[in-house]
Amino acid sequence: MATSHHHGAAELSLDEKTALLSGRDMWTTKPAEGAGIPALVLSDGPHGVRRQRMDSGLGLYDSHPATCFPPAVALASSWDPELVGRVGEALGREARALGVDVLLGPGVNIKRSPLCGRNFEYLSEDPLLSGVLGAAHVAGVQSRGVGSSVKHFAANNQESDRMRVSADVDERTLREIYLPAFERIVTQARPATVMCAYNKVNGTYAAENRWLLTQVLREEWGFDGLVVSDWGAVNNRVAALLAGTDLEMPGTHRRTDAEVADAVRSGALDEAVVDTALARLRGLAERVRAQADPVAVDFDAHHRLAREAAADCLVLLKNHHQALPLAPNGRIAVIGEFATNPRYQGGGSSHVNATRVESPLEELRVLLPEAQVEFAQGYDTAGSADAGVLREEAVALAGQAGTAVLVIGLREADESEGFDREHVQLPADQVELIRSVAQAARRTVVVLLNGGVVSLEGWHDDVDAVVEAWLPGQAGGGAIADVLTGRVDPSGRLPETMPFRLADTPSFLNFPGEQGHVRYGEGVMVGYRYYETADVAVRYPFGHGLSYTSFKQSGFQVTPTGPDTATVSVTVTNTGERSGKHVVQVYVAAPERPVSSPARELRGFTKVALAPGETTTVEIDLDRRAFAYWDITRGDWTVAAGQYRVQLADNAHAVVATATLDLAGDHLVRPLTLDSTVSEWFGHPTVGPALRAAMMSGPAEEQSGAAEEDADALVLLSSMAMRQFAGFLPRPMPDEALERLMRMSEADLDPAAG
Ligand code: BGC
Repeated sequence: MATSHHHGAAELSLDEKTALLSGRDMWTTKPAEGAGIPALVLSDGPHGVRRQRMDSGLGLYDSHPATCFPPAVALASSWDPELVGRVGEALGREARALGVDVLLGPGVNIKRSPLCGRNFEYLSEDPLLSGVLGAAHVAGVQSRGVGSSVKHFAANNQESDRMRVSADVDERTLREIYLPAFERIVTQARPATVMCAYNKVNGTYAAENRWLLTQVLREEWGFDGLVVSDWGAVNNRVAALLAGTDLEMPGTHRRTDAEVADAVRSGALDEAVVDTALARLRGLAERVRAQADPVAVDFDAHHRLAREAAADCLVLLKNHHQALPLAPNGRIAVIGEFATNPRYQGGGSSHVNATRVESPLEELRVLLPEAQVEFAQGYDTAGSADAGVLREEAVALAGQAGTAVLVIGLREADESEGFDREHVQLPADQVELIRSVAQAARRTVVVLLNGGVVSLEGWHDDVDAVVEAWLPGQAGGGAIADVLTGRVDPSGRLPETMPFRLADTPSFLNFPGEQGHVRYGEGVMVGYRYYETADVAVRYPFGHGLSYTSFKQSGFQVTPTGPDTATVSVTVTNTGERSGKHVVQVYVAAPERPVSSPARELRGFTKVALAPGETTTVEIDLDRRAFAYWDITRGDWTVAAGQYRVQLADNAHAVVATATLDLAGDHLVRPLTLDSTVSEWFGHPTVGPALRAAMMSGPAEEQSGAAEEDADALVLLSSMAMRQFAGFLPRPMPDEALERLMRMSEADLDPAAG
């Protein structure tokens, strides 16, 4: 009752309190004005505001017009937190203007498999990139007085059976791969809310997972905001409240409110749990309503920002024969239905009713007034036209042009929230079109529009240039024109690996699981961590992306700044003739340590803009976590002693410079017990020698065994527990002697005392 005196909550009855903790309808909470709690509006989503016109029902595609910024897959390719922060601010302004208190995003789940239908809504296969960009997104949105909802917490990495599948993940993998983006965002950007996932994590629904929502999120990371359920993620509301889910969305027409009230009345649930959740709801209301005044939105300015952002997200994968940038004059054949009617966002809850959409063809014509830009449809996504006829028209046009620009991609129906893909192929008619056009055209450029990674095999080597434009948002058409014409230097870098084959992907044998479980069998070896460690060739590595200019990196240096922290510095020079941006990527390769380690892991990055001839020196801090692994025996982050290689790389596969760093690491000595093995006893830094001495201290005739024989026996018995080994000795060790040695090993735990 202690908390109830606050802000008039004392006047609320139990039934009123439980009612406030579930939605009024699809998108709003219930108000209790007398108790200082207004109705709050929560709306999707990560790359645009989807403020639905009606307050209930699905009506996904009937929302107020809003700017469709580049979805996460594209935004992540920018590798630019400053840019993502500005997009976040714009999202915050639009949310404010549309009366939205909490924006449901960003989605920071890790891309475990290219098949996940929602990969377009997620940032990366790498936790650092996801976390840094996710934190920038949240900081931007929240700077406008709107709350963010970081989602989907946690291990929500597939759509198949998404409402109940159990993600079976070992703790080290959770801590090192699936949780750090959330952790960074929570600790650095203080999101107003976290959205718990639909799925189970290790057998318990995320919504009911106390370890996740209370121990890790609140107690370890210090989260002080509100946990909201994903829409319909609550299965047992009492269990969810107990675990740390505060607000159930949407409401259930009071059914679960009554369940909670009954549980309190029957004594099964402490009313203090309800009061705590209510205090968090009030905290959220105070936080977002402090700046409740609507703001005016300049949609033109936001459209320009959407274009600027998208242009910095495009990834130039390949550029032979200087096919790009396009010459300002001559004949250009633009081919593909998506050139006039582009795909620019994905399907599902994140779908935005864009304020306008730019066509790549029209924008190319604007930027190339001297050129003769012609168009052929090439393919028909509806499948109603004759593919052969469309192809022949395109080939004829390409044959007369200097360059053919094919705009190719996945159809709406190929990928969406709600289901996973079954393959990574482009539509067959489009692949055939690329091959035919490439034969006829002098130069062929392919621009890809897709949310999930697609295979480039079967045509990649036939074309001169490939631009991965992902789903670039409503201004993607202009951004494509900006990059193709060289108005903007391409500076995107892949936030996920492009494999040769689906069968090469690390989760291939364990995706999407079976019989209610998906086993994360690849452990920490996700994405490039796997390809680089197992030496599996890929089409394009994580971090890859070309530019029209060239950069030189020199003077790479690593300087220790503490026992297990360091600063990296490197000088970057634009050695080409155009302005451009370069992404400095720093990876760390760990020494031999008690756990299997990826060949290298991204531990720092920064994007620099340089004019021709310009030089700059960048510094990147590597914190303790950059060298740590999660040790399950200690239940903590641990730095192993040894020599770490700090690598400057152009991408996860191309290291350009290496520096070494010797770390003393954490004192890993553990107390010895009778269950410790012979090798642990003999290998102990102080007990080992003492044990040896004790065993040798008998009468001379009993020490007859040759030293080599002893060594052989020790190898043979190395994994035997001391409990048994002590009995095997010809002259048993007295219990007191063993106990004395065990106490000695405990004393050694504190390195200062040693
Ligand atoms: C999605 C969330 C979304 C929510 C509200 C759910 O189905 O998983 O990402 O925010 O719906 O639309």
